[in-house]
Amino acid sequence: MKKCDCVLCSFENPKVCSTAIIIKDQKMLVAKRAGSPFKGKWDFIGGYINKNESPEDAMKREIKEELGVNCKCRYLTSFCGTASYEGYGYPVLAMCYLVELSGKIKLNKKENSKLSWIPIKNLKTIAFDSNQKILKYVKSKFVCDLKGVRSLLKQLNPNIVFDEQSLYRATLNGYMSKVEKKGKLIGMGWIYPRQTLPWNNATIEDMIVDEKYRGQGLGEKILFDLIGWAKRNNIQIIELTTNPKRLAANSLYRKIGFQQFETNHYLLKLKK
Ligand SMILES: CC(C)(COP(=O)(O)OP(=O)(O)OC[C@H]1O[C@@H](n2cnc3c(N)ncnc32)[C@H](O)[C@@H]1OP(=O)(O)O)[C@@H](O)C(=O)NCCC(=O)NCCS
Repeated sequence: MKKCDCVLCSFENPKVCSTAIIIKDQKMLVAKRAGSPFKGKWDFIGGYINKNESPEDAMKREIKEELGVNCKCRYLTSFCGTASYEGYGYPVLAMCYLVELSGKIKLNKKENSKLSWIPIKNLKTIAFDSNQKILKYVKSKFVCDLKGVRSLLKQLNPNIVFDEQSLYRATLNGYMSKVEKKGKLIGMGWIYPRQTLPWNNATIEDMIVDEKYRGQGLGEKILFDLIGWAKRNNIQIIELTTNPKRLAANSLYRKIGFQQFETNHYLLKLKK
């Protein structure tokens, strides 16, 4: 194919595609490409945006076409790269979405020959250079000891019902401080920004150290790490609430300099 050299085509603007990050049990859904380029290689689910289509609508359409299900998507970030058609390379921009599928998936074999859930940690390579960047990003953001998170949350509150997807949403909304020993999570705390009209606030939640490791300075280490994040992000006030019966936690917060404020804390529960 001869490359068009008109003024319009000589602008090297990227072609935009939507790319799905689908995670379950710390495994990513990938598809084996049925055609070239990269035939036979693993790829993320996704595709090019059509004329007059938003990236989010393109993501939903691609999921429906390739997996036969509806989904919720949340924009993550974008990465540039290259692709090729009949020997010509051109720039691409991949808009990445964290996708939650609803329903039982059924592979459309026109584009991909096979689906597989591969542990994020073990996924070494993927088709397209932009996807390599996405894979690196996913590993840095979402790899975690899920069993460890479950076990810590149970210690915080035995009645907690934990949904893996909420962990990923929380990770995106703020910063999670983690302490690990031999790859096992033994302590964590989470801070997220809470903008009010006058203040850049942040809230700390889910502070917990595994009961086997308490009293060794880990709680204090996690708290200082969260405060460090707040300082780097120009937070003016950090807030948290804790039950007065949590003696260790109350003592820790006071020791670090948190001041107790008299206020009525109201909750309106909308969903179980
Ligand atoms: C609160 C918690 C995170 C503290 O973690 P930790 O690693 O045990 O705490 P550290 O070893 O870093 O101790 C730091 C400070 O916390 C306080 N503290 C820790 N254990 C305490 C205890 N058993 N009794 C009273 N104060 C205690 C002390 O002020 C201590 O400072 P000090 O050693 O100079 O006395 C931990 O006890 C925990 O996970 N508790 C259950 C979950 C919880 O209550 N989370 C808070 C939800 S808001």
